[in-house]
Parts: sequence; structure tokens; C-alpha cells
Amino acid sequence: MSDLNKIALQILSNGKGILAADESTATMTKRLASVKVHSDENNRLLFRQTLFSSLSMKECIGGVILYDETIRQKTTTGETIPELINSSGSLTGIKVDTGAKVLAGSKQEKITEGLDGLRERLRDYYDLGARFTKWRGVYMISEKYPSDLSISANAHALARYAALVQEAGMVPIIEPEVLMDGDHSAKDCLMKTSDVINKCYEELELNNVDLKGTILKPNMILPGKNSGEKISSEEIAELTLDCLKNNVPSSVPGIAFLSGGQTEKEATANLNQINIKNDTNFIMTYSYGRALQQSALKFWSKNINNTNGTQEIFDHRVKMCTLAAQGKWSENLENS
Ligand code: G3H
Repeated sequence: MSDLNKIALQILSNGKGILAADESTATMTKRLASVKVHSDENNRLLFRQTLFSSLSMKECIGGVILYDETIRQKTTTGETIPELINSSGSLTGIKVDTGAKVLAGSKQEKITEGLDGLRERLRDYYDLGARFTKWRGVYMISEKYPSDLSISANAHALARYAALVQEAGMVPIIEPEVLMDGDHSAKDCLMKTSDVINKCYEELELNNVDLKGTILKPNMILPGKNSGEKISSEEIAELTLDCLKNNVPSSVPGIAFLSGGQTEKEATANLNQINIKNDTNFIMTYSYGRALQQSALKFWSKNINNTNGTQEIFDHRVKMCTLAAQGKWSENLENS
């Protein structure tokens, strides 16, 4: 087993998942504004430190993805954030893309940037304690989107990123996110997500990326937010498995879904069904941002010094997701 494969399995095995706490300062400022908390360095640190020192970290969280600001911060007791994360047996990850910018040649789509100087930045992040990384490509969906240009430009960037990350001794999370926004059907989402993922693996292979040392972070197959289509968790699981079975090479050790705007409960119920129906060798778990943090953030905002109360809310959510990652969640556990 290669070292990178070991890292990937350490993050994903035994129902563990990933806490995506890698919101950029701009995104975190929006999240804090939504609960009326001022966004400054200390408040961002306080909320994140509260989550990272929760009890559930040890049992349930295999890795935490950070933003550049957080990986350089220290807790009030003087340890670095990667040290705090490692003390629970979890690994530190870092978002290394620099965001999605308008894609020249396409009117509305985006291309994720950050390849310039990446080799040097990766060395720095490794020294700060990171052992895995994330890069998110983002795709609009409609009748004409994503365009071939967006599919191929983002796949190329994801593959070049992944090759550089492995060269630096870390595991790349490959995140091609087909957005939920729009009035498309779940069948459309299946078709377009399949094209996107397929192209990513074509480019990853071209760039000699060792797939055993990678993690895929895709969207689930869902109908568009404005489509009015209602489908069950069972159907979502079937479509999602269909997409992954047909497009992800079997050497990939695991898949950690993004939540992408689903509620906490939807993201949990859908992951649970995926695991109940999982007839592949892929580990299927979570790499959620909003679907792990929303309730905790709301509670914390009422009294930002109520560490224990906030951690209780967070621990519950994390435990539900870890049960779902083993197909052992049920609705009545939510109120227990
Ligand atoms: O890039 C997206 C985040 O890592 C996951 O966030 O679960 O809120 O979609 P989300």
C-alpha cells in the first residue's frame, strides 16, 4: 500500500468523514453575517476552534479542510490549529485553489485558478502540517451548460493540481461540483455530472496521477433547486451510484460527497441510502461544509462563548453523518 493510499484510507475508513471548514474569508463573512456575528480573525478562529476541539472529532472526523488563514492560526492555549486537529487523530487538509473566475471564451461559466506558484505553496502547507488538499472546479448546469470548454478546462486544472499535490507527498481531493442551481431534472444532472467526472479521470490519467492516492468529492445526483421535481432518497442514491459506477475507476479508494445546499437532514438521509445500496468497493462518506456546521453556527451565534452547547450540537450532526456513512442512520435517531 502506498503512503498516499494509506493517508486516503486513514481519512475515510470506519465511517469517518471530512469536515470542510475551508470557507474563504469572504464566504465565512457571509455565513457569519447570516447569523449576525461580526467577521474578524478572532471570531472566525473561535468558531472553528470550538468545532475542532469537539468530542466527535476523535471518533468521526478523519480530516478537516482548512483555509489559508486558519492553518496559520494558533488557539488561545498556544497550539497551532493543525496540532489541535492532529491531537484527535484527524488529519489536516488545505484548500489550495484560489477561487473560480470568469472563464474566457464562455459567457457565464467559471474556471478555477491557483496553479501559478502552487508547487511552492504546497511545500509551505506540508511544513505547516497539511497531509491532504482540496481543489474545487465548479460547473453550471442548464440545457447548454456545462460547455465542452468548461468541462475540459476544469478537468485539466484539476489534474495538474492533483499531480503537483502528489509530488509534494499529499493526497489531492478532486472536487468537480455540478451546482444544484437551476431547473434541470435529476436525469439531466446524471448525464452532465457523468460527462464532467469522466473527463476528470481522462485528464488525471494523462497527468499520471496515482488514483489510489486520491479522493473524489462529487455532488450527489439531484434535481435542480428550481425544477419542482421531488425524488426520494432511494432514487437519489440509485442515480448517484449509477453515475459513480460508470465513471469512476475502481482504483479510487473513496468518495466523500459535498452537501452543496442540501439541508443537514437531506444530506444525511441521502448519504445513508447511498451506503445502504452501495454495491461497489468505494468507501462512500461525507465531506460536508454547511451540512455539518449550520445548526452549530446558529446556536453559537447566540452566545459565542458557549463552547459546550455548540459542541453538543456539532457532535450530534457529525455522529448522524458517520452513521449515514455506514448505512446505519434512521430518522428517529435525529431526536435522540
Ligand atoms: O467546496 C465545498 C465545500 O468543501 C463543501 O461545502 O458541503 O457546504 O457544499 P458544502
